[in-house]
Amino acid sequence: MPAPGVPDPPPRGSITLEGVARRYVVGETTVTAIEAVDLVVEPGEFVVILGPSGSGKTTLLNLIGALDSPTDGRVVVGGRDITSASRRELYAFRRHTVGFIFQTFNLFPGLTALENVEFGADIAGREDPREAAQRTLDRVGLGDRLEHFPHELSGGEQQRVAIARAVATGAPVLLADEPTGELDFRTGVQILELLREQAADGRTVLVVTHNREIARVADRVIELSSGRLVGDGPPAGGPAAIDDLHW
Ligand SMILES: Nc1ncnc2c1ncn2[C@@H]1O[C@H](COP(=O)(O)OP(=O)(O)O)[C@@H](O)[C@H]1O
Ligand SMILES: [Mg+2]
Repeated sequence: MPAPGVPDPPPRGSITLEGVARRYVVGETTVTAIEAVDLVVEPGEFVVILGPSGSGKTTLLNLIGALDSPTDGRVVVGGRDITSASRRELYAFRRHTVGFIFQTFNLFPGLTALENVEFGADIAGREDPREAAQRTLDRVGLGDRLEHFPHELSGGEQQRVAIARAVATGAPVLLADEPTGELDFRTGVQILELLREQAADGRTVLVVTHNREIARVADRVIELSSGRLVGDGPPAGGPAAIDDLHW
């Protein structure tokens, strides 16, 4: 029990950005990828980051996942300021706190589905990585594909393996950059359903897309334009059932 008057520690998956900017100097010019972003996201939220190509979506995700550092401002995840952390602390942060999911899946081609997920769980220091991998692949509907190599799986199945790999690490935050970009409509919808389940399980889930239709499934849409946050709230017209999507 914490002493009276001492606040509870923030949940491991809470995210706070304060005045965050990221600028790149290219030759004589400065490119502003992200400017003056303030944001709070809590565990259990299923958030879509929406914006056209070049609006700063990937930059924002990389700043939250400690793959990049802001030029200005603070990024706080799970109560710790990752902008003032040492390289060693950031290494631990990436291992234990964030799971990344990419448009092109990024699976190891020479490892089976089970080995890909086990590897992720192992790096994250899970006690029984094989068991965690099996359980998570079951959970994403791939319990009968454990021994398949990536090239023996469909695009949707490969993305399921990538989600399982991120989830099996035990990370409280999942960051997905255009995770349905390579998939057909039906398969993309299944992937979104799976990501929504992860938020329902208490994880913090941020999904990047340039597709306004996808944004309709989120509880909350954060809209970027030229690196600035220009919208934050439920999707226009209210949340849509996943069955009602068209793209
Ligand atoms: N390493 C970099 N060097 C210079 N400019 C960059 C770099 N990374 C991204 N940018 C620029 O920052 C802006 C935002 O890029 P990005 O975050 O990738 O956008 P999005 O993911 O929304 O397409 C773009 O104008 C892009 O050209
Ligand atoms: Mg991008």
